[in-house]
Amino acid sequence: MGPTADATRTAAIDAFKALTSLEGLESAAATVDATPGWIRRDTPILWPEMHSAFVPMHWSYPAMKAALDAATRLVGLDLAERRNLVLKNPSVKGDGFATLSTLLCAYQTILPGEAARSHRHAPHALRVILEAKGSFSIVNGEKTPMESGDIVLTPGWFWHGHGHDGTEQAYWVDGLDVPLVHLLEPMFFQPHPQEYEPVVRTVSKSPMRFAWADTVAALAGAAADSAGHFGPTLDLAAPDMPTLTLKVHRWARGWKGRPFRQTANVVYVVMDGHGCSTIGDRTVEWGFGDVIAAPGWCRVEHQASADSVVFAMSDEQLMRWTKYYRIEAVA
Ligand SMILES: [Fe+2]
Repeated sequence: MGPTADATRTAAIDAFKALTSLEGLESAAATVDATPGWIRRDTPILWPEMHSAFVPMHWSYPAMKAALDAATRLVGLDLAERRNLVLKNPSVKGDGFATLSTLLCAYQTILPGEAARSHRHAPHALRVILEAKGSFSIVNGEKTPMESGDIVLTPGWFWHGHGHDGTEQAYWVDGLDVPLVHLLEPMFFQPHPQEYEPVVRTVSKSPMRFAWADTVAALAGAAADSAGHFGPTLDLAAPDMPTLTLKVHRWARGWKGRPFRQTANVVYVVMDGHGCSTIGDRTVEWGFGDVIAAPGWCRVEHQASADSVVFAMSDEQLMRWTKYYRIEAVA
């Protein structure tokens, strides 16, 4: 410690020794970059029960598709590396972007003949393909189809890009853990040095791709949870993406789930069918391609009015690993 710091510390000690009032202590704490733990705050340090700052949300695919089509007319890939629309929760102020506390979703589109330059980043990411024929994904040199109903993984720091050899515009939903990375701060990003990553091998089967036909076949034999909250459910393995839990639910026409609340934050993407969900105080009618955001500890109740397949991305296993996970049935 140099003489100046030594003198500063001695002055602070003397000032604290001379204090005679609680108010004086509370204001003097700032001189040593501290704050009293006992004062009332707008946001307290502890509270009795989870209350998400995010609100339940529903994005309608027909509306978002129209917005993407407008972006297609008005935004070239020279302006935007990825032509996407981020699903911003209205509780987020300013130019923030989170969909839920730990999750970020976006609708994205690509035209035939277009290709997105490869890059890699710390956040884990995936795509739920809504409409695509002839498009493809390249992940760490491996090229796979990326077509309607597929779920494509791009784990953190894996090189990834995509392109489209088909004839019709393609649409999908992106899901990432970006808000969590911002909170923890280990963000890194790199564009690929060759811009477009060379294809090392082309495959149709890959741990990076859950093809629609395989998902449907596996769902046919999937078991429902005994508590009756989720219906027959398929767990998608994504061991390189431990912050995200990926599931696909099969809800038969007329199925009604038992209401629950859980600490995990969940984003649902409707892959087929239609139905109705109540998230907190909001009831939404959903159909193909829609996105629903359910903040943690909101009461959730789902029902299907047609045979439906619904993808769910959440921070459940993160909540479990931290021992923060809770779930309970509610009335
Ligand atoms: Fe990316």
